[in-house]
Amino acid sequence: MQAPAKINLHLGVGPLRDDGYHDLVSVFHAVDLADDVVIAPAVRSSVTCEPADGVPSGTDNLAGAAAAALRRRRKTGSPVAISITKRIPVAGGMAGGSADAAAALVGCAALWGIETTRGELIDIGAELGSDVPFALTGGTAVGTGRGERLSPVLSRIRLHWVLALSAEGLSTPAVFAELDRLREIGDPPRVGPVETMLAALAGGDAAAVAAALGNDLQAAAISLQPGLRRTLRAGVAAGALAGVVSGSGPTVALLCADAESAAAVAAELAGSGTCRSVRVATGPAPGARVVG
Ligand code: C5P
Repeated sequence: MQAPAKINLHLGVGPLRDDGYHDLVSVFHAVDLADDVVIAPAVRSSVTCEPADGVPSGTDNLAGAAAAALRRRRKTGSPVAISITKRIPVAGGMAGGSADAAAALVGCAALWGIETTRGELIDIGAELGSDVPFALTGGTAVGTGRGERLSPVLSRIRLHWVLALSAEGLSTPAVFAELDRLREIGDPPRVGPVETMLAALAGGDAAAVAAALGNDLQAAAISLQPGLRRTLRAGVAAGALAGVVSGSGPTVALLCADAESAAAVAAELAGSGTCRSVRVATGPAPGARVVG
């Protein structure tokens, strides 16, 4: 199974709701940076991850929780060993845990011979985490509600990215809480209308997409990791069209004009001392699926 990472091209965050979540308007974009998830019959259920740093095991892992949720709902399913090869940064704002959960749902349904629909898996996924439905869907999509209500976006363009990975992760609830705090004491920047991004994608113009990139959580992520400002600046100085913090961060996504430019930006950024490592990626990529 392969499960894609996501970048938020646009992320507007509404006020804190009574249930502890925020209403979002998000343009999700799946990229070809993916975890490999192997699901095999086993005597006892397990989840292992390589490298294991910071990734929970068993049902504390979202992939393990996904298998358990599908088993509960359909009242069928033998134990499985889930082995994850991690390429998506952990606690990086790219929905890596959600990607693994999406892969586990699709993979377990296939292994257990459960006839299901994307819609049913999306329902189960939405209960596991706000980003799981998009990891099932892939492509480019607008998410509303907690981010789990999706509609596809017409996009005529392949986007070339450099991802700058941070040495330290950020906790998603902590970043949302920091945004609430910043809004209480001031007026952090807000993204413009989502329509600007949708028009840029429909028009197929990378420069227009770059101009429309925006994320309400960026100020909060920078407040918790001030070094991200330097990463964003260094990426643009290296030749990227624009940069944005992905989701709750701290991964910085830098949009480049083409594949050649992305390779050059990656090389220069890698030597800038403003991030732990860099990856090159393109999108849109498909949602969680069986490969090989
Ligand atoms: O849905 P998920 O488990 O990924 O959310 C993790 C946390 O991120 C939530 O507990 C909440 O603090 C925050 N969050 C939010 N509003 C959203 C999505 C997530 O406040 N729409």
